Amino acid sequence: MLLPDTTKPQYVGESWWAALRTAARDQSHIAGLTHRFYRYPARFSPTFAGTAIAIFSRPGEIVLDPYMGGGTTIVEALSRGREAIGGDINSLATFVTRVKTTPLADHSQAALRLWADEVVPTLSYWLTPYDLAAFICPRRTKNLTLPKARPIKKVVALALRTLGSLPNEPARDFARCALLNAAQLFLNGQRRQSSLGEFRDRLAAVVHEMLLGAAKFKEAAAQGSSCTLLNCSAADLGKQPPFASGRKANLVVTSPPYPGIHMLYHRWQVDGRRETPAPYWIAGCQDGRGNALYNFADRLATAEDKYFAESLRTLTAIRSVMAKGGTIVQLVAFSYPARQLRRYLANMETASFEEVRGPSQQRLWRDVPSRRWHANSKGKLSAAREVVLIHRAL
Ligand SMILES: C[S@@+](CC[C@H](N)C(=O)[O-])C[C@H]1O[C@@H](n2cnc3c(N)ncnc32)[C@H](O)[C@@H]1O
Repeated sequence: MLLPDTTKPQYVGESWWAALRTAARDQSHIAGLTHRFYRYPARFSPTFAGTAIAIFSRPGEIVLDPYMGGGTTIVEALSRGREAIGGDINSLATFVTRVKTTPLADHSQAALRLWADEVVPTLSYWLTPYDLAAFICPRRTKNLTLPKARPIKKVVALALRTLGSLPNEPARDFARCALLNAAQLFLNGQRRQSSLGEFRDRLAAVVHEMLLGAAKFKEAAAQGSSCTLLNCSAADLGKQPPFASGRKANLVVTSPPYPGIHMLYHRWQVDGRRETPAPYWIAGCQDGRGNALYNFADRLATAEDKYFAESLRTLTAIRSVMAKGGTIVQLVAFSYPARQLRRYLANMETASFEEVRGPSQQRLWRDVPSRRWHANSKGKLSAAREVVLIHRAL
C-alpha cells in the first residue's frame, strides 16, 4: 500500500484506506449542494467522490472526470477548491453538470422564484396558445402519447413556452433542469397516474429546492475556481483545451460504462418499457445516438470484445492527459467479474497504469442498492456489486 504520499493535508496520520472504505460503502441518500438537480443513471455517491478528492489531491490541482454523467465529481472538486475538468459523450450530462456548477446572479434567482410561484401554477391543460406546436418536437416526444404521459407533455411544452420571460440563458437552463427533474419523477418508470396539480406543485417546489442547493454550492466553491466541461468522447480528451496546450490532470475520479451492463443514460421509460428521448427535448440539447454509444457496445454478450477495445482506447487517452504519478480512482461493476475484471486490469496495464491495493493486497468492493439496469441474466447478481480500482499513472 503506497499511496497517498503524506504531503497531502487532510489524511496525514490517518488510514486513508479506512476512510475510502467507509466512503465507498456509504449508503445514505444522495444529498447536498447541487447533487439532487437530476437523477442521472448510475450516479455515484458525493461522499465517495469527495473523500477520494480529499485523499488524493490538493487544493488548486486539476481533478478530471472523463465520464462525468451528472457531474458528482465536478461539483465535489469545485467545492473543495480544486480545478475541475469534466467530459462526457452525452450532451445531457454536460447540460446537467453546467447547470449544477453555474452561479446565478441575484436578479436571476428572483426571476426564477417568481416563475415558480406565479407562472407555474397557471400552466393549465386547457390552455391552447396558437404557437404551442413550436414547443413540441414530435420526434423528441416519442411515446409520450398515452393517457398517463400526454397531459404532462402538454404542461411541459407550456412551461418551455414561458422560458422567454426569464432574464438570461443560465436562468432558462436552470428552469429547464427543474422541468427535467420533475418530469423524470412523474414519467420515468411511473405506473400510477398523477394529477397535473401534483406535477405543478412538485415543479414549483423543485425550483425552490434547487435555488437553496445552488446557494450552498456558491458558498462552498472557491471564488473563481475554474471549471471546464467538454461534450466529447474520453478518447478525444487530448485534442481539447486545456489538455491540448499541455496541461495535465493530477487526479481522475470516475465511473466508466460497465461491461455487460446497459444503463439507459439517454432515455426514460414510459408506459411500461417504451423509451422516450424526452430528456433532450426538455434540456434543449442534441441526441440521436443509440444505446451502444453510451455503453461502449451494445447489449449482446458478443459485444464484450468491442467494449474492451473502446475501453482501452479511452484509458490510453486518459493516461495521456494525466501527470506522471497522478492517481485514477474508478468505481466499476461487471456482469461477469471473474473474467471481466481480469480484462479490465489488463487494459489498465497496457494503458500504463500500476494498481495500488490496500493492506494484504485487498480491493474494495461495495454492494449497489436498488439499481435499475440491464445485465445479461446470468450475470445480474454479480452486477449488484462494484469494485473501487486505484491506479497510479506510470
Ligand atoms: C456510470 S456513468 C457516470 C456517472 C457519474 N459518475 C455520476 O455520478 O453521475 C458513465 C458515463 O459515461 C459516459 N460515456 C460513455 N461512453 C463515453 C465515452 N466514450 N467518452 C466519454 N463518456 C462516455 C456515459 O454517457 C455516462 O454518462
